[in-house]
Amino acid sequence: MHSSFSRLLPCSLLSAALIAAAAPAGAQLFRPAPPAHYAWSDQSLSPDQRADMVIKEMTLDERISLLHGQGFSFGQQRPSSGTESNGGAGLTPAIPRLGIPAIQMADSAYGVTRGAFMGRYSTALTNNLGAASSWDPQAAFEYGQLIGRELRDQGYSMSLGGGVNLPREPRNGRTFEYQGEDPLLAGTLDGNVEKGVQSEHIIGDLKHYAINDQESGRNAVNANISARAMRETDLRAFEIALKISDAGGVMCSYNRVNGDFACENNYLLNDVLKRDFKFQGFVLSDWGGTHSTAKASHNGLDMEQPGETFFGDALKKAVESGEVSQAELDEHVHRILRTIFATGLFDHPVVRQVPDVDGGYAIAEKIAEKSIVLLKDSNHVLPLSASVRSIVLIGGHADKGVITGGGSAQVNPPGGNAVPPPPPAPGERFGRREEWLPDAPLQAFKARFGDSNVSYVSGDDPAAAAAAAKNADAAIVFGYQGESEGMDLKSLDLPDVQNKLIETVAAANPKTIVVLETGSPATMPWIDKVSGVIEAWFPGIRGSEALAKIVAGDVNPTGKLAITFPKSDADLPHPTLVLPPPESEPHRPAPGQNISEFMAQMQKGLPAFQVQYDEGLKVGYKWYDAEKKPVLFPFGFGLSYTTYAYSGLSVKTGDGLTVTFTVKNTGHRAGTEIAQVYTSFPESAGEPPKRLIGWARVELAPGESKPVTITVPQDRYTVYDEPSESWKLVPGSYTVMVGASSRDLPLTKSVSLQ
Ligand code: BGC
Repeated sequence: MHSSFSRLLPCSLLSAALIAAAAPAGAQLFRPAPPAHYAWSDQSLSPDQRADMVIKEMTLDERISLLHGQGFSFGQQRPSSGTESNGGAGLTPAIPRLGIPAIQMADSAYGVTRGAFMGRYSTALTNNLGAASSWDPQAAFEYGQLIGRELRDQGYSMSLGGGVNLPREPRNGRTFEYQGEDPLLAGTLDGNVEKGVQSEHIIGDLKHYAINDQESGRNAVNANISARAMRETDLRAFEIALKISDAGGVMCSYNRVNGDFACENNYLLNDVLKRDFKFQGFVLSDWGGTHSTAKASHNGLDMEQPGETFFGDALKKAVESGEVSQAELDEHVHRILRTIFATGLFDHPVVRQVPDVDGGYAIAEKIAEKSIVLLKDSNHVLPLSASVRSIVLIGGHADKGVITGGGSAQVNPPGGNAVPPPPPAPGERFGRREEWLPDAPLQAFKARFGDSNVSYVSGDDPAAAAAAAKNADAAIVFGYQGESEGMDLKSLDLPDVQNKLIETVAAANPKTIVVLETGSPATMPWIDKVSGVIEAWFPGIRGSEALAKIVAGDVNPTGKLAITFPKSDADLPHPTLVLPPPESEPHRPAPGQNISEFMAQMQKGLPAFQVQYDEGLKVGYKWYDAEKKPVLFPFGFGLSYTTYAYSGLSVKTGDGLTVTFTVKNTGHRAGTEIAQVYTSFPESAGEPPKRLIGWARVELAPGESKPVTITVPQDRYTVYDEPSESWKLVPGSYTVMVGASSRDLPLTKSVSLQ
């Protein structure tokens, strides 16, 4: 390790460090020397000017070196390029003679990943869908800022995170990494996450562009979807996120969209992303998602990751033969260089330091408090009052920790997996790989309710759990659903015997509360039998403390669902997940196959199979509304320990809408209400019954009323017109609706828009 450390340090840095070490107490140690001065060091020039100056100095090989990765690194491999891997998922090497830094990339959806390889700590935040329940752009910014800071501390310069696919298929094993079902909410939150990342001069990223909505057969699937449906749903989320964040990277996805792979899809990359969204950064392929050289280059891919099958020597040859023009090559290079300047990475070189663990804990706890959603609270069973003397926690490994989301987003638990999985069953290659953070609800509840008042039983034996529940004042059953990249859920039902356990406990104690740790919606066949339900998501390294505070009533819950909880899988647009035929299936190496062979097989292109997204615009609540389906819990729903009343709606039209109303806290506790504004459309628009067009978080003391004004820009209620490839306002009557959730909208006002 020592020798590699010194190899990473340029001489000027080493001598600066030595001088600092000899400096008087109080002087800052290991301060980086300012980068050497180049013509493009001049910060008064634009990122584009600076990039162009560098390009003029670059050889063809140097240009090509920026356009591909160095092979699978993941902490072990030492690439031959002279730049050592920092242990992340990918990198492009530095060009020291020109002062261009390496781009060291690490997955970082809900925290910096793969710490275990290098013995590094990083803060595991509430998963992305969970944190979206805060509806809080400022919290999203802090989420991203923490990730950016910890990436920098660990020597990385680019985040691979920013997942913003809409859950067309909520059983997608990566739903936990995304921001929910509404493009305005998802785009706004993800945009703020990436803005936070980039505020630390780390390159941000949005992924997986686009329509990568299921993991099953993800390398082969062809998503069939209309342009209008894409533009108003999934692509709209990307568009909004980009506008807010100016993210430097967009990762194209594995799947095909309307016939072409996303990473060589002219419509997605050139027409929409680069032309219409005016994206200035670079497109990088998902890992192994590049399938050609000239086609991918022409159609808008800028960088292949993690290897160089198509954008290494093959690209060089294509440039030399004229198949790819010099101008096209330089455009790819320009996008990468301008991003290095625009994000400030060039001017603020990354310097490693020990992350601020306590600071990370504080942010993680605050975000968890805002993310947890109270779904049911019969007869005010919650918060548990001081008269509750004995509480039994049941199941869900609540004595050990909380579950996390897996795959490339996996943040390694500090100190190791709190619940090591059983060894794989005979014949099983991987087995269960759930990882649990060592933040036990049992400990957090004891700290808040008193040591001797809280006990735990495993739930392995439902009869024993019921007996323990009978003897307690209240029983809290922990249900969970493990989720990961590379798999889809068989069903939204809680797996194994968890539903049975909950029913058995509920029959024994009327004060049964269910806490769910899931990264996607869950069905609840026992909903009428329990008194309380709390959705805690994958709550992160301080999730248990946040949860205990909410159960005790020290924090009043504010979270509201960013995704609908349907009653059953049968109510989904695709009641049955479309599974790939065996030849399109492999998404991980076969036993005995090495990763490079597997990658080559994948990159050749597995045979396509079709998924038809005929639900089109009707994603999430738009589907259930249009189909008039009752749901378990609607989009935007969440309870509080206080109550709110809405009154006095007025809507001013003009350049956009100005929506004004009053919210009153009618209860006895201070709280924050997430007030939502939706609109319907004229019949001729062909839109689902309603669309979210704005919201506000309103903080209210008991009894307090506040006027709320929400300004709604016109682009929130235009529709995409396919023939003219543009957004249009459909003239006619619109009903603006205001209230507490997508299905609780007491205020309405009709306006005519021309
Ligand atoms: C995932 C990406 C991830 C990449 C690098 C891929 O398998 O789909 O989300 O960023 O690996 O780890």
